Amino acid sequence: MDLTGVDLMRLFVREFELCKVSPGEHVIVLSEPSSRTDYVAAAWGAAQQLGARVASIVAPSGSPIPEPVTHTGSGPGLQSVLDNHVVQDALKGADMVIDLTREGFVHAPVQSEILSAGTRILFVCDAPDVLARNMPSEADTERVEAAAELIKASRVMKVTSEAGTDLAVDLVDSHPGFQKGFVDRPGKWDHWPSTMVVCWPMSSSGTIVLTAGDILLPFKEYVQNDIVLDVVDGRIEGISGGPDATRLQQFFDDSDDPWARSLSHMGWGLMRTANWFATAMYSKHEIMGMDARAFAGNFLWSTGPHPFLGHDSFAHLDIAMRGCSILVDDTAVTKDGKLV
Ligand SMILES: [Fe+2]
Repeated sequence: MDLTGVDLMRLFVREFELCKVSPGEHVIVLSEPSSRTDYVAAAWGAAQQLGARVASIVAPSGSPIPEPVTHTGSGPGLQSVLDNHVVQDALKGADMVIDLTREGFVHAPVQSEILSAGTRILFVCDAPDVLARNMPSEADTERVEAAAELIKASRVMKVTSEAGTDLAVDLVDSHPGFQKGFVDRPGKWDHWPSTMVVCWPMSSSGTIVLTAGDILLPFKEYVQNDIVLDVVDGRIEGISGGPDATRLQQFFDDSDDPWARSLSHMGWGLMRTANWFATAMYSKHEIMGMDARAFAGNFLWSTGPHPFLGHDSFAHLDIAMRGCSILVDDTAVTKDGKLV
C-alpha cells in the first residue's frame, strides 16, 4: 500500500462511518475494469476496518445506451450486470453496495429492485480531493429533509434571474427527494459527494435564460453566451441565442429522443463546500461534476427522463445555474444565487 492509498482509506473510513457500516454487515464493492482501482482498494479496506464482511465484484464494461461513458451521471448501469441475475442476487443479498462503476445505476430499473431488497447503495466517482473537500456531515440530513418537506408542502416554485429567467413550476405531486452524500438507511441510494434537493415537477412554464458562467452537464462546460429557452407545459419549445444555443439544439436533434426537450428533475444545491470552478480545474474524466450540481444556492434543472410521467430517456442534461432567485410558495430559498 502506498501513501495515497492510506490517505484514501482514511476518507473512506470516515464516509463509511457516516453510512453506519457496522460489524458483520455484508458490503459488496461493485466496479468495472476501468474503475479507479485505488477506490476499490480503499472501499474494501475501509469496510473491513469497520468490521464488515466485504467482497468485490468486478463486472465487464459496456453500456446499454449509445452515450459516451465519461462519468456523465446518466446512470444506465452496466449491461453485464443487467444481464446477470447471479450478480443481481448477490447485490440484493448485501446490506450495502459501494458502486464504483463509471456511470452508476441510478436510472437503471434494476437499481430499484436492489434497493427494494433492503440494500443501500453509495455511488462514488469524483476525484479524491472533491470527495475530501465535500465530506458530508450528520447535520446535512436535517437540511436536505427540511428542503424536501418544504417542496412537499408547497404548490408553486418561481425561478427568476437578472438574465431573464422567469419560470413557474408546479410542485403538486412532484415527488421531492434529496441527496445528502452518504447513505445510512436500508433501501436508500446516495452519491458522495452531494447535498441537494430535487423534485420531479409534473409541469412548468415560462422562460429559462442560461447565461455566461452557467454549467452544462454532462458536457462539463460553461455557457459562454445567452441561451433563451421557452418552456411550455414542461417542454422546451423554443431555443434561441448564439453558438451555445445552436449546440444545445444540435444535442436535442441528434438524440432522436421524444423526451429530450422535456424537463426532468429540478431543485437547488445545498453543498456549501462546493466549488463552482471545479469544472474548470479538473480533467473531464476525473469528475462527474458534483461541485456544479450541488453548489449551494444554484438552480439545478434537467432534461430527459421523468419516471413519474413515464418518460424513458437517456438524453439527460443537468444544467446548473448561478444567480437565480427561487421562491417556493411564499418562502425564498435562494436570492440571486445565494442560499437564504
Ligand atoms: Fe440528473
